[in-house]
Amino acid sequence: MQKYKELIFASHNNGKISEIRDMLAPLGIKVLSGNDLELPDVEETGKTFEENAYIKALAAAKEKNMPCIADDSGLCVDAMGGRPGVYSARYAPNRDFNKGIEKLLNELAETKSSNRAAHFSCVIVLAYPSGKYKAFEGRVDGNISTHKSGDAGFGYDPIFVPTGFNRSFAEFDSVEKNKISHRGRALQKLISYLTDNDGL
Ligand code: IMP
Repeated sequence: MQKYKELIFASHNNGKISEIRDMLAPLGIKVLSGNDLELPDVEETGKTFEENAYIKALAAAKEKNMPCIADDSGLCVDAMGGRPGVYSARYAPNRDFNKGIEKLLNELAETKSSNRAAHFSCVIVLAYPSGKYKAFEGRVDGNISTHKSGDAGFGYDPIFVPTGFNRSFAEFDSVEKNKISHRGRALQKLISYLTDNDGL
């Protein structure tokens, strides 16, 4: 693992990039992002987190002719039939997450359900230019709060309270969040895979 000093993370999402950077920095791995490399945005046409992560990772791997990782993730709310799920980014009007949060709280209220259970899911795909790939999944369960709290993190963090805590993800520092988050858990599996297989 230590011989690999750089890894391309095919994402333009600064929230995700900084989390993945924080998690790989202690291993001495520098993360190059879609922003650093000016990778083109890829249309997410998949119906699952894994399909979308594969589409993004493979496009980058082919473009750069080297193994790349990408993630796809989202918030699945039980009383909304698992929505917004793979559409979490597009669910927020103009990708404005203040509006997205408001929309989600309204939609959940309209269900009249008292069930506020939800989970974040993440699939990280490591893809090779040949098309070969490996997927790593992570999930964190929790509840949707009735109002926003905290200003750390990104996306739907201010309304997601992980099980066993009484504060939202936006009230966690990044080290704490990465230990239990969907992305942190998926990344741990990727790190174990790279370690067991002596790198890429
Ligand atoms: P995509 O994976 O680029 O399609 O975007 C996933 C979307 O899900 C993000 O834009 C966020 O809205 C949401 N999301 C994924 N992970 C998190 C997280 O850790 N916190 C808050 N929102 C998240």
